[in-house]
Amino acid sequence: MKTRMDIGNLRLEGNLMLAPMSSVTNLPFRLLCRRYGASLVYSEMVFSEAVLQQSEKSMARVFTCEEEKPLGVQLLGSDAGSLVNSARIITESCMPQVIDVNLGCPAKSVINTGCGAELLKKPDDIGEIIEQLSGSLDIPLTAKMRVLGDAGKTLEVAHIIERAGADALIVHGRTQKQKYSGKSNLDIIKRIKRELFIPVIANGDIADERTAKHVLEYTQCDGLMIGRAAIGNPYIFRRIAHYLREGELLQPQTLHERLEDFFEYVELCRRYGILTFRDLSAKAMWFTKGLENIKPVRIRLNGAKDEGSILGVMNGLRGLN
Ligand SMILES: Cc1cc2nc3c(=O)[nH]c(=O)nc-3n(C[C@H](O)[C@H](O)[C@H](O)COP(=O)(O)O)c2cc1C
Repeated sequence: MKTRMDIGNLRLEGNLMLAPMSSVTNLPFRLLCRRYGASLVYSEMVFSEAVLQQSEKSMARVFTCEEEKPLGVQLLGSDAGSLVNSARIITESCMPQVIDVNLGCPAKSVINTGCGAELLKKPDDIGEIIEQLSGSLDIPLTAKMRVLGDAGKTLEVAHIIERAGADALIVHGRTQKQKYSGKSNLDIIKRIKRELFIPVIANGDIADERTAKHVLEYTQCDGLMIGRAAIGNPYIFRRIAHYLREGELLQPQTLHERLEDFFEYVELCRRYGILTFRDLSAKAMWFTKGLENIKPVRIRLNGAKDEGSILGVMNGLRGLN
C-alpha cells in the first residue's frame, strides 16, 4: 500500500489530499490541514471568467501564503482559452504548485453554464481543455472528475484526460445525478487506476482510518482525497497518515485540542481579514460535531446572533477543561 506519491515533478511528503470545497477550504482551513499532514491542499473552485475579471471575491478564494504550500488551485470553466488565461493569472499571482480542472461540480448554476460535471458529456472539449492547459503550464495539472453512469464512457474520459497531458487524475466515484447521496463507486475507480499510467487519486466517503486503508487497498490508487470528513476535523490527516504507516489508531483529540484548533482557525481568519459571523457560526458547529455531551452547547451556538455570542459559548467550553 502506497503512503507517498508524486504529481508530475512535484514530490509530495505523503499521499493524502484535502478536497476542494466551496465555502470550506479557505486559507485558514487549508493551513490547519497542512499542519496536520495533508500532503497537498486544494482551494475552493474559482470560475475562470471571474479570474479574468479579477473578481475580488474569487481572488480572495485563492489567497495563499508560503506555509500552506504545496497548494492546488481548482479552476472551473468550459472554454479552453479562458481556462488557459485564468491559469496564467493564477500562477503569476499566487504561485500554486498544481492547477486542477473541475469536472465534477453537480450544482445547477454550474451545470447550466456547461461547466463542472456537465463537461463530462463532451469528452472532446475535455481533451481540448487539458491539452491546452498542460501545454501552457510550467506546473503539474490535475483533473477532478465524477464518474458517469456508464463505465465504458467513464473510462473513455479518463483515458482522454491522460492522453491530453494531465499529470494525475482525481476520481470521485459518484455520478452527477447522485450529487452526494448513495455510495462512491470503488469498482470504477479501481478500473481507472488499473488502466491509466498517471497517478490516480480516489475520492468519496473516506471517513476515517479504516475506510482510508480499505479504499487504498481495494482500488490500488496512488493517493486519497478527503473532503467532508475533514470539515471541523483537520486532525483527520494525522490520524489517517499514522494508521497507514504504523497500523495503529491514534487517540481521538481531546475537547481541549479540538477547541485549540477552532481558536487557531479564528485567529488565522482574523489575521487574513476574513472573519465573518456566518463562517464563524458554521465552523463552531463543525468543530463541535461529534463531541460528547455537546447537544446543549450546539443548541446555544445555533441560536447565537453575533460573533461575540459564538466566541462566548466556545470560550465557555474551554473553561470545562
Ligand atoms: C461543501 C462542499 C463544497 C464542495 N466544493 C467543491 C469544489 O469547489 N470543487 C470540487 O471539485 N468539489 C467540491 N466538492 C466535492 C468534494 O471535493 C468531494 O469530491 C466530495 O465531497 C466527495 O468527497 P468526500 O466524501 O470525502 O466528502 C464539495 C463538497 C462539499 C461537501
